[in-house]
Amino acid sequence: MTTPPPAAGAPVTVVGIDAAGRPAHPGLAEVLAGAGLVVGAARHLAAVPVPPGCATAALGPLTSALNRLRAAVAAGTPAVVLASGDPGFFGIVRRLRAAGLPLRVLPAVSSVAAVFARAGLPWDGAAVVTAHGRDLRPALNACRALPAVAVLTAPGAGATELGAGLVGWPRRLLVGEHLGTPDERVTWTTPEEAAGRAWADPHVLLSLTDPPARDPLPGPAAAAPGTGEAGVPAFGAMRVDNQPAAAPTGGWALPESAYAHRASMITKAEVRALVVARLRPRLGRLIWDVGAGSGSVGIECALLGAAVVAVERDPAAPVRANAARHRVDVRVVTGSAPAVLAGLPAPDAAFVGGGGTDVLAAVAARHPERVVVTLAALDRVAPAVHLLRAAGYAVEGSQLAAARLADLPGGSIRLAATNPVVVLTGERP
Ligand SMILES: C[S@@+](CC[C@H](N)C(=O)[O-])C[C@H]1O[C@@H](n2cnc3c(N)ncnc32)[C@H](O)[C@@H]1O
Repeated sequence: MTTPPPAAGAPVTVVGIDAAGRPAHPGLAEVLAGAGLVVGAARHLAAVPVPPGCATAALGPLTSALNRLRAAVAAGTPAVVLASGDPGFFGIVRRLRAAGLPLRVLPAVSSVAAVFARAGLPWDGAAVVTAHGRDLRPALNACRALPAVAVLTAPGAGATELGAGLVGWPRRLLVGEHLGTPDERVTWTTPEEAAGRAWADPHVLLSLTDPPARDPLPGPAAAAPGTGEAGVPAFGAMRVDNQPAAAPTGGWALPESAYAHRASMITKAEVRALVVARLRPRLGRLIWDVGAGSGSVGIECALLGAAVVAVERDPAAPVRANAARHRVDVRVVTGSAPAVLAGLPAPDAAFVGGGGTDVLAAVAARHPERVVVTLAALDRVAPAVHLLRAAGYAVEGSQLAAARLADLPGGSIRLAATNPVVVLTGERP
């Protein structure tokens, strides 16, 4: 923990303005009555009874407010900071603590808790991510990877932009605007609808998987989203390990028997271990598995938290069945690469397990940080290395040939060779 210990002096009281609705925190009136300085967003200052004559500072950039708070602490002047929801949850407490201010926090209900409550859904297994003041893509990829995600948004990084990025993924969205205020509006919508319209700030977004037809969970019949009460969808099956940092309970580099596959159309466990490690899957990243076959590589990336698009030309390939078996969400795109890659969102890393040089060229043209290729045919190795280098990648490679233990009659053991494979990794310097 790098946060400094709080400085001595009168603590600053940080009060959450409740996203669950009025009335305000029961301690608010007393805290305000004694305050010499109240800091908060204009909408929060307007929403509470600041005593006449009490100094206020509207946020804005935090620097000048921090200076005024430091001065108040040093002078022993009781200061209050108003913030939304639970200020310790993706909120201002982090910045105030980093500034060394002594704090007392009176939390209210977070906007995330409030929006799940509005939907009548549990949220203990949900991931919560923020798109506030940062690149939108990690939040988007969390929505693509996990069944229940709440996103804290910012102007220009909200439901419109997230909806656009989720087109093609089977998701239902719930947008909660101005929660806890008279302007509150809670809307079920689809990625397409969300992308096509504007949403009022502040708002939070829930991204929920569409439950498959066989979903055993009870719930109201799913009608078209955005149609009010009758359209409130059932909640998709929730993984109990739906946690951003959780490693898969069953591990990875699983034996081929863990996947349905047609003979030889699966990356062997020993090779998969290296390939998955090289792809660096984790929550917030998007991985392409091109020429997915059984989907084992993409599925293991999804088990490690990544969003995954599996591209496979054979509609009979068992990618969906395998993903369901491992309870991960993999978007399957059926069609032939490279043509089918054109409309897909750009990946952070891509695995090319099938397809020719044209496929590798099309993948490299999307500039993923990393490209991993497995090749059985030696005559394809040098062209692939040259292609990746020409596209700006530093390339390394190795040949893997695992020999597995196999039983012989009489209790003896022999080695059974698996087919040798060359694994190439291209990395952007
Ligand atoms: C810096 S975060 C603060 C989160 C806050 N600590 C909480 O617990 O709700 C700001 C984001 O929270 C969400 N938010 C805060 N208050 C809200 C409200 N009343 N209605 C909808 N969303 C809200 C929005 O996504 C907003 O951009």
